[in-house]
Amino acid sequence: VNLSRPYLHYAPEKNWMNDPNGLVFFNNEYHLFYQYHPNGTTWGPMHWGHAVSRNLIDWEELPIALYPDQHGTIFSGSAVVDWHNTTGFFNDGPGLVAIFTHHKETDSGIVQSQSLAYSTDSGRTWIKYEGNPVLSHPSNPDFRDPKVFWHDESDKWVMVLATGQTISIYSSQNLINWVFESEFGTNVGSHEGVWECPDLFALKVEGTNEDKWVMIVSIGDGEGLAYGSRTQYFTGSFDGKTFISEHSEAKWLDDGRDQYAGVTFSDIPADSRRILIGWMSNWRYANQVPTDSWRSQMTLPRELTLKECEGHTKLVQHFPKELEQWFNHTTEIERTVNSNGINIDVEQGPVYLDLNTPCPKSGELQIALNYSDQTHTVIQFNFNEKKLSLKRSNSGKVDFSELFSKDQELFFRDLTELQLTMVIDTFSVELLMNNGEYALTSLQFPDEFLKGISLKTDAGEVLIKGVMKQ
Ligand code: FRU
Repeated sequence: VNLSRPYLHYAPEKNWMNDPNGLVFFNNEYHLFYQYHPNGTTWGPMHWGHAVSRNLIDWEELPIALYPDQHGTIFSGSAVVDWHNTTGFFNDGPGLVAIFTHHKETDSGIVQSQSLAYSTDSGRTWIKYEGNPVLSHPSNPDFRDPKVFWHDESDKWVMVLATGQTISIYSSQNLINWVFESEFGTNVGSHEGVWECPDLFALKVEGTNEDKWVMIVSIGDGEGLAYGSRTQYFTGSFDGKTFISEHSEAKWLDDGRDQYAGVTFSDIPADSRRILIGWMSNWRYANQVPTDSWRSQMTLPRELTLKECEGHTKLVQHFPKELEQWFNHTTEIERTVNSNGINIDVEQGPVYLDLNTPCPKSGELQIALNYSDQTHTVIQFNFNEKKLSLKRSNSGKVDFSELFSKDQELFFRDLTELQLTMVIDTFSVELLMNNGEYALTSLQFPDEFLKGISLKTDAGEVLIKGVMKQ
């Protein structure tokens, strides 16, 4: 048992990590590449680190996949399987192509351009394309984070690219020659910071035969921002050239502070799952979080679906089935909670908790994760205001950032049932509410192991049912 590393969340053995990159499924392996600085525990010259998994939970770290070269350091991007050798890189069956940003700081300013690398051995070794870069811009210093997918209807590759405070869409027959199609975002969504790490994909709306397209856009931190960096999404339509949002207001992927730069896997077998992984940190304090030889972890994978709620299409998140399968012990919970409170004992290690209760109309319910007599993370439901607050100001080490101690809140709609799924790992709490309609991802840095979970309420006698897995 080890209080220095997460159990369920990917973190590199050593040194700094940020965005997930090149998420792709190929030959029965999930690949996770990521922004990596191999020579320090803070952000620096970027490489692509690499890990693989067969179950999305246990990851094996592999050698660095992409190193900086004459075109610059290696910023964020994506990877695809080139099934039909559109690139001409593969004579012996399909292989992987990484599409990434080269970032260079020159005397006349920052230059960002898109480049390719390919692998014929399941991502173990990579060859940079000799014609790099394949897409540049004469003047835009924010021109990065290509996410590429195959668009069947128009029989071509599509790239979404972060271009300042918009997303530009390009298309290509061969991943090498790119044609500009359209620019999205000028008058919609949040423009409180630079747009980064886009993704675009179709999902079926639950209970219908209708597909909608989802555009994910992360927004970088900037001075005066209340929450640091965070991620918005849009729902709408896409015809191979133009994405049209069906709404103009910003919708947030997560109400917590520690879900950023999330993108989804490419090439999970057809009709199957759309799975997102994010970087579990916030640019406001990512370089200061109190871990030793490594810094930053990924969120757990989230399976995405769409659901109509009160006239809006919402992105819904579930933990993949592999997460529940990871645990060995299941305990049924059926307890009446009142103002005296109850305590649930836990073993050392991560905790998966799934709780249901009729939703009280007024009063409060408090769930405390107890680390010591003084240290707790508190999740508080205020049923009058229909508000969930996660309070981590007493959760252990917090003094590295002012923003870190501030409460995280989410407001929920009228509910008859309160459903909550919570995963507590060494350094995080991930909370999904109302079957994934609401999400809150939050780091914490306790000095001791979780000792127990206590619940109390002033809303009368509340019957809580559920399961705990350890
Ligand atoms: C997002 C980001 C990307 C960029 C990368 C650099 O967190 O700023 O836009 O490619 O990180 O590490």
